Amino acid sequence: MESIWTESIEIRKREPLPGDMEVPAVVIGAGLAGILTAYYLKQEGIRAVVLEADRIGSGQTKNTTAKITSQHNRVYDWLIRTFGYRMAEHYASANEAAIGEYERLVQDKGIDCGFSRCPAYLYSRIETEFLKQEAEAAKSLGIEASFGTECELPFPVAGVSRFEHQAKFHPLKFLAGMAEEVEVYEQTKVLKVEGMRVETARGTVTAEHIVFAAHYPFINVPGYYFARMHQERSYVAALEGAERPEGMYLGVDQGGLSFRSCGDLLLLGGGSHRTGVHPGNRSGAGCQYEMLRSRAQEIYPGCREVSQWSAQDCITLDGLPYIGRFSRRKPNWYVATGFGKWGMTSSMVAARILTAMISGRDCPEADIFAPSRHVTVQAVKGLFVHGAYSVKGLAKHLLPRGKGRIVPNCPHMGCRLEWNPEEESYDCPCHGSRFDKEGYLIDGPAQTDCKRQEG
Ligand code: FES
Repeated sequence: MESIWTESIEIRKREPLPGDMEVPAVVIGAGLAGILTAYYLKQEGIRAVVLEADRIGSGQTKNTTAKITSQHNRVYDWLIRTFGYRMAEHYASANEAAIGEYERLVQDKGIDCGFSRCPAYLYSRIETEFLKQEAEAAKSLGIEASFGTECELPFPVAGVSRFEHQAKFHPLKFLAGMAEEVEVYEQTKVLKVEGMRVETARGTVTAEHIVFAAHYPFINVPGYYFARMHQERSYVAALEGAERPEGMYLGVDQGGLSFRSCGDLLLLGGGSHRTGVHPGNRSGAGCQYEMLRSRAQEIYPGCREVSQWSAQDCITLDGLPYIGRFSRRKPNWYVATGFGKWGMTSSMVAARILTAMISGRDCPEADIFAPSRHVTVQAVKGLFVHGAYSVKGLAKHLLPRGKGRIVPNCPHMGCRLEWNPEEESYDCPCHGSRFDKEGYLIDGPAQTDCKRQEG
């Protein structure tokens, strides 16, 4: 099913790339990060064209719950302990500034996207100490944060960490407004990037700067992002007849849910799992939508589901985005990826950092987001877990292929695909590519459809 965002706006179509061109900057991907980057570059007097394989906002922007917040689960206490106060402060200030910048753009451009400020909460039903620590850490970094034991949710909580002045909006209405400001070519899939040439089926764009902003970089080498990220799926149900809190909530306990109101609806989210490792396949029962439905009835008896959809997020080894130079070997390539569940603020942060880098301006906040930042203990653990999934997926590709119509091996790097019974797709447990039941590509990093079985 489509998200409530997709169902409530039709974004104006754009023409495909008309042929070869030479420009100062090219941005691959017309989601929030790509469109905003092109917009800020234009403000600096740098012409940037955006190439989109499908339509504007057709990637993950349409599937978000659109919480614009610097509250990224429990991150600040860990950031201070791991990277030190200065880099943690960079993370906090870049994300807080992103919220303000959304507000400024909405007002300056008169974009009617329901932008409103509201508090954001982390809640736990069992623990309080780490929420206290998180609120204290955030406060020490300049965020207006506090710990409390009360909130609007209709069940008891042990504690909450509350951030003031966060925000929410309609992401596609905002994106449509901003896309009017930039040069975008749709239906222009990038086939190859070589040096400073971006090849598409519609022509080649030669640029001084290339920005990869299409969710998951499809270039394997250099950068090796496939070894440093996995993808996760999560699920949302839009409910009628449920109480609608003013604030936005995220549960930090195992199986915690997220809550955010939108007009007459409540958006209930949860059920995250690694792409390609669907819980229904292991238990043989239960699906994530069903879990959300039953939790919804438990919490809001009699409520009615009007829509449901899923999202796919890139998760880095340490959980922080990769925003900056793509690789030391490619100084004029830039990347914006690994936003985790925090695509709204991360897109804005990416656009501002990449614009500063391309314009040759200093950007002290870039250090904490740099893909080349130092490797943490958490990242090393992540590398082992990620590696184990890849080894298992690759080993499985040697198993018999079954009698289906498609060869169930991922065209990205060959891992055996797993059937996702809930969404009727073949999903890759290695790096998260997805294909429909006919083997057509849904999500990368794979670039092509699955092969067909012979005979
Ligand atoms: Fe990399 Fe499937 S996504 S092997």
